[in-house]
Parts: sequence; C-alpha cells; structure tokens
Amino acid sequence: MAAPIVVALGGSLLRPEEAERHAWLAKLTDILAECKVPVGIVVGGGAPAREAIELAKPVIEDISALDEIGIAATRLNASIVAQVLQGAGLDVCNGIPSDVLSASRGLSTHKFVVMGGTRPGHTTDNVAIRLAVESGASRCLIATNVDFVYTSDPRSNPSAESIEKMTLDDLQAIVGPPIHGKAGGSGVIDPIGVQAAIDNQLPLAVLDGRDLSRLAKALSGLAFTGTLIEVR
Ligand code: UTP
Repeated sequence: MAAPIVVALGGSLLRPEEAERHAWLAKLTDILAECKVPVGIVVGGGAPAREAIELAKPVIEDISALDEIGIAATRLNASIVAQVLQGAGLDVCNGIPSDVLSASRGLSTHKFVVMGGTRPGHTTDNVAIRLAVESGASRCLIATNVDFVYTSDPRSNPSAESIEKMTLDDLQAIVGPPIHGKAGGSGVIDPIGVQAAIDNQLPLAVLDGRDLSRLAKALSGLAFTGTLIEVR
C-alpha cells in the first residue's frame, strides 16, 4: 500500500465559535474522500482544551494532571472528526487510538485513522510527527491557524516575516529547545515535535487549515501556500 500522509489538525480549526464549522467539516470530508493514500489525522484540543485547563489551573498545580485534561479534550475533538468521516461512509478505523503504535497498525488496515493526544509532556504536533515516523509517512502536514512559519510570533511582532522554505534546524532555532513548559497553548509547532522530526529526518509542512484548498493541494503533492520544512 502507498505510504500514508499524517496531518495534525489544530484544534482551533474546529472553530466551535463560528457558524462555518459545519461547512469546514463537510469540505474536510470531501477532500479526504478524494485522497489516494491512507491518512492519519491527529486532532488538537482547541477551545475545549483551553477552557478546561483554565478551569482546573487554580486548583491543580501538577502540569501532567493539566496535560491529562488537555488530552481528554483532544480525544473529544478527534471523536467529532472520526464520527463525521464515518457518517459520510469513509473507511475510518473504529475508536480513537491512545498511542501511535495502535494508530499506525490501524493505518495498515483502514484508509483513515483519527486520534488525539497520547500522554502528558507534549502536544498533538508531536503525536502527529511520531505517527508519521511510525507509519513510514513521507511528510507530516501541520494544519493550523497561521498561514506560514514566521521569523518570530506575528501576533507580538508586526515586522515578523513569513518563510516559504526552511530546514528543520532553522525551525528549531525559531521554536526553541524541546521543553514542555506548560499545559495548553504553544507556538507554531511543539518544539518537542521538531526535535522528533530532526531525530528521525522527517520533513514537515505548516499551512493554514482554515483554507482547506491548501490542505487539499498538500495532500495531493501539489504546490501549496505554506511553509515547507526540509530535512536540510
Ligand atoms: P494540543 O495538541 O491542542 O496543543 O493539546 P496546544 O499547543 O495547546 O494547541 P494548539 O496546537 O496551539 O492548537 C492541548 C493540550 O493537551 C495536552 C497539552 O497540555 C497540550 O497543550 N496534551 C496534548 C498532552 O499532554 N499530550 C498529548 O499527547 C496531547
């Protein structure tokens, strides 16, 4: 069977606060239905993760305990995506795997596997990168709510510049060392995932998943608007 592709879908893309969420989910389903290769989809926690972690923070200090709450939210979002795809008749592995090994096995017998987080200490970016390595994917696509990797955070630095092509080492210089500082909320890509990509020589891509035509192009191997991150 052809090598799979792994996509990290940022939880913010589910946009529970916006009316277009149904159209977005329907378009995602259409795009995946057209896909010629197996796809592993790793869904982030988005608003439910942020809300639940903020609710618990004043009474829970332990980062791992807060991470577990974030993981539960990622699995909730993964269930939404899995049920939508299954409901549309796509060949989705039953259940939400709780580790990358089971998810990778699922990808050898089903066209799609949908999962969320696994264990404390990182985010779903790292899970997606690990799943890509485990399943022999050629690249891991990070679909998020920014259009490119920037030289610094464009929210706090208006003169930050977008980057179309870079290396994993360049990316590590931007995201910093592989440390999980706090539960919930990270930069453009989890630095622990970037280290895993470096260790396993896995190319990445970052694109704006709000515009699903970009994801469709990337999944088809066509040029897309976003940042390509090569091994060197
Ligand atoms: P996300 O993957 O959504 O991370 O997991 P994030 O960086 O906070 O969100 P985005 O990418 O900016 O949208 C939510 C939280 O769940 C915990 C972490 O606390 C993470 O911040 N988590 C998630 C884990 O501890 N382990 C996992 O495998 C996944």
